[in-house]
Amino acid sequence: MSQSNFKFQAPTGMKDILPEEQTYFDEIANVAKKYAQFYNFLKIDTPILEDYQLFVKGTGEITDIVEKQMYVLKTKGDEYLALRPEFTPGFVRAYFENGMVAWPHPVKLYSFGPVFRYEKPQAGRYRQFHQLNFESFGSQRPIVDIEIIWVLYNILKDLKISDLAVQVNSIGDSQCRPYYKKVLIRYLKSQERNLCQTCKKRLKINPLRILDCKEERCQQVISKAPQILDHLCEECKEHFKKVLEHLDDLDIPYILNPYLVRGLDYYTKTVFEIISQTGPEGRQNALAGGGRYDDLLKLIGKKDIPACGAAMGIERVINLMKEKGIKAPETPAPQVFIAQLGDKAKTQTLKLLEGLRKSNILTEAQLSKDSLTNQLKIANKLNVKFAVIIGEEEVLNKSVIIRDMQTGTQTSASFEKAIEKLKQKIKGQKKN
Ligand code: HAM
Repeated sequence: MSQSNFKFQAPTGMKDILPEEQTYFDEIANVAKKYAQFYNFLKIDTPILEDYQLFVKGTGEITDIVEKQMYVLKTKGDEYLALRPEFTPGFVRAYFENGMVAWPHPVKLYSFGPVFRYEKPQAGRYRQFHQLNFESFGSQRPIVDIEIIWVLYNILKDLKISDLAVQVNSIGDSQCRPYYKKVLIRYLKSQERNLCQTCKKRLKINPLRILDCKEERCQQVISKAPQILDHLCEECKEHFKKVLEHLDDLDIPYILNPYLVRGLDYYTKTVFEIISQTGPEGRQNALAGGGRYDDLLKLIGKKDIPACGAAMGIERVINLMKEKGIKAPETPAPQVFIAQLGDKAKTQTLKLLEGLRKSNILTEAQLSKDSLTNQLKIANKLNVKFAVIIGEEEVLNKSVIIRDMQTGTQTSASFEKAIEKLKQKIKGQKKN
């Protein structure tokens, strides 16, 4: 089909993950798995679609995510389902539905997969993107907040991102936040004329969100606003103090950001984002974000269970790795190439390939090519140590030719013994 006749495109804000990019995904998934296993986070996969009401209740009815960014669909059975815009409410549902309340606590879970938000696409902001998500249910201790930060921070360091910092704040809880909200609203009302249009609306429905508005005019108002840290109750103050002490003890660079509120409704006490300090200005630079949410499990499952978690944005991490010239490990080069001539030789090649795979010898063959000369040219280009040649005569003799690509010397081996011979030759080469 000619290119000009082809009209389909991936949906706006969504993209194909091509083979080159897959190496980054694999690398991040491998590092994540290593950390998750070591720190005892168990893997869980929840459905990509969930009951739409789960997010209304969990993520929060007046958040941007639920108000503007959810992909909602009505099924043939008249159910309203949403493509998950985040993992957290799905984890909470799964925790209750699968009886994890009865498991030894804390219950620590993680997942890796796509999430969907109908946002205005820009660099680092997509409509389908991937998150690595960690949650810990059942403990209110500050060390749990730190364990989540520690694991994500070290995964990023393991990926060779070195200029990290954690922005951290406490947004109080149901005891102290309502009082702070009143103080804040009183101040913001006195400044209403100086706020942007969106924040004028936020003042009525979600005043805390004004604190992280990036508009210049709002920034001026915010810089003089009362700060939540001055209005925390004793319990929240103590919790936050411990969090900062642990960050100090672990030498994790952090920035105390009293304006960090995060755009999801469920947070209590600690909120944080992990950023790259040298990422380009003005770009979406939060590589990961999360916090404590001690009231959400009660809201969804009617049980008072504290929790804390965070998610890392995979595309943002990959973009940053590429900008910094950090390469994902390359697929190892093949050691052997099998060149074949004729249909019977092709099936013999498949048999041999499987034997070599079992012996962990990386091998390449190009079954849709016929000319031996061309195949050997490819073998040369791939810089393999040995080529195995199966021509018509070899098929008849049930044998193969093994060619040392450096010296050009050729030896013959029975088909049965081919793998053993190759192993010896590779071993011999390594010794030299
Ligand atoms: P979030 O801050 O909305 O938190 O998302 C976490 C991370 O996902 C962000 O720091 C960012 O790296 C990435 N991200 C968010 N939106 C986009 C987008 N449109 N395109 C590309 N990347 C994006 C949550 O989702 C919470 N559920 C985290 C959490 C878990 N809190 C407690 N537990």
